[in-house]
Amino acid sequence: MDDITAMLRRSYDEAPYPGRAYAHTHPDYMAALATLLGLNPPPVAHCRVLEIGCAAGSNLIPMALSLPEATFVGIDLSPRQIADGRRIIETLGMTNVTLLVRDVQEVGDELGQFDYIIAHGVYSWVPAPVRDRLMALTKRSLASHGIAYISYNTYPGWHILGALRDLMIYAARGVEDPRERARIALALLDMLAESDSENANAFHSFLAAYAGQFRSVLSRLGSLSHAFLIHDALEVVNEPVSFAQFAAHAAQHGLQYLSETEFPMVLPLGLKPETVDAIRSFSRSGIDLEQYMDFLRGRQFRQTLLCHDHVTVRRTLRPERLMGMSVAALMHPETQPLDLAGSEWVVFRNLHGVAFSVSAPITKAALICLAEASPRAVAFEDLVVAAQRRAVAAGASLEDTEPSALARRLGGDLLRAFATATSLVSFHLHPPAVATRPGERPKVTPLARLEAQHGEEVTNLYHDVISLDPFDRHLVQSLDGRHDRRALEEMMAAAVTAGEVPYAGDDGRAASLAGLAADIEQRLNWFAQVALLVE
Ligand SMILES: C[S@@+](CC[C@H](N)C(=O)[O-])C[C@H]1O[C@@H](n2cnc3c(N)ncnc32)[C@H](O)[C@@H]1O
Repeated sequence: MDDITAMLRRSYDEAPYPGRAYAHTHPDYMAALATLLGLNPPPVAHCRVLEIGCAAGSNLIPMALSLPEATFVGIDLSPRQIADGRRIIETLGMTNVTLLVRDVQEVGDELGQFDYIIAHGVYSWVPAPVRDRLMALTKRSLASHGIAYISYNTYPGWHILGALRDLMIYAARGVEDPRERARIALALLDMLAESDSENANAFHSFLAAYAGQFRSVLSRLGSLSHAFLIHDALEVVNEPVSFAQFAAHAAQHGLQYLSETEFPMVLPLGLKPETVDAIRSFSRSGIDLEQYMDFLRGRQFRQTLLCHDHVTVRRTLRPERLMGMSVAALMHPETQPLDLAGSEWVVFRNLHGVAFSVSAPITKAALICLAEASPRAVAFEDLVVAAQRRAVAAGASLEDTEPSALARRLGGDLLRAFATATSLVSFHLHPPAVATRPGERPKVTPLARLEAQHGEEVTNLYHDVISLDPFDRHLVQSLDGRHDRRALEEMMAAAVTAGEVPYAGDDGRAASLAGLAADIEQRLNWFAQVALLVE
């Protein structure tokens, strides 16, 4: 093992990485996006997945729980992290996931072929020769129609973040203890974030703005912010690459660029038409065009999907590719009452406030059907039928319209939503069995109960992270499907009375438990809404 790799191994052993589930690495997400781009990816239910640099398996373990018939292998350099992950696997009694201590440079063909390969937060955090081995392993181990996900820090955003990193490393020079280094770096970031002034030059203002942005990412991480800083800002290797360099590296290994997982980023959105024309005239390829957009957007991080170079990619999204998929969306119309029969434009918004304008009655009706089914995904073909019925009942003259014409119109609109923001609509080939509302004895996954015991973040059934307050954390730990409302209320009341859970009812008075039942009900409904409850 080379010296730098040995240093990295020590560093991750000393301060394990605060990993989590990354929604866009889930095979279901990759497969759905690949299908939209004209590929025929391996079926998700029985797939084989490799994660390179899996740390303690925080991404791989929830994925493996969600696909019990599929097989998962994670490799990582750090024995401590692998041991931590294995303990969780053992506690949960899982048999479809294996974590191995391996340097990516030393992996041969013994692990076999994989339908989906993931390397999140590894590529630009290892030296160039290791990056090359990672790409070579991806090429060698990826099944013929498989999809690989690789994320990396990128330019131009990292020119400024790199300047911040240099400053933090400078401030912490000579300090050995990683936690103390993180504390110093954090103090420096705070100072810089507050340092902008009228007299600051453009570079200083830039630096202050980026410091503020970095600071807010860290505050969202709460108690994990030090571990994040140790590795993401202060680690011995952090070598961002431009998108064009990355795509060229993949091409050298016989892999081609498929898409960014954040699909709207591949489109020239938010730019003036003249600017789009200009960058098109500079661009000699689609890769070039995205590279110019990265420059204009100050891109810092990419999550790129790759496939073999023999695969045909069809970049124009077509509604017919939604056949066989399921759709989930939660948007509400701004205008009430909603006229489902008319064709005037109506703005729908999701819970993040992202807007989507719709005029077709079939789409308005479909969005209402999806909101009612949320968070469950509905088969696209069933959605067309349900939305037609709903629109006709509301007076729309769609009774005699061919289902294929309605599917084209609705499909086109749903793809337009996806191309606006991936948070507006999601497509699935293997949707999770999620409960729409809390049943008599509500239940979360055993993993969510375990996660709630140890921290503020739990993984939902769409492989996304949900943050919980102390009250929610306690409640989630009791949701094993054995307790009815009365039992839950008794358990929570006991915990509040014993001072284990802070509780301040609606009126803010901690002593009163009068509103407890209603509060529990409200939290259970929220858990259902954020896809934490299993059927
Ligand atoms: C920044 S962390 C990311 C962890 C995890 N993938 C995530 O994103 O939450 C990088 C991980 O790559 C691992 N790593 C670094 N060099 C490696 C190598 N040569 N072979 C295997 N794993 C390596 C580290 O041990 C560490 O767990």
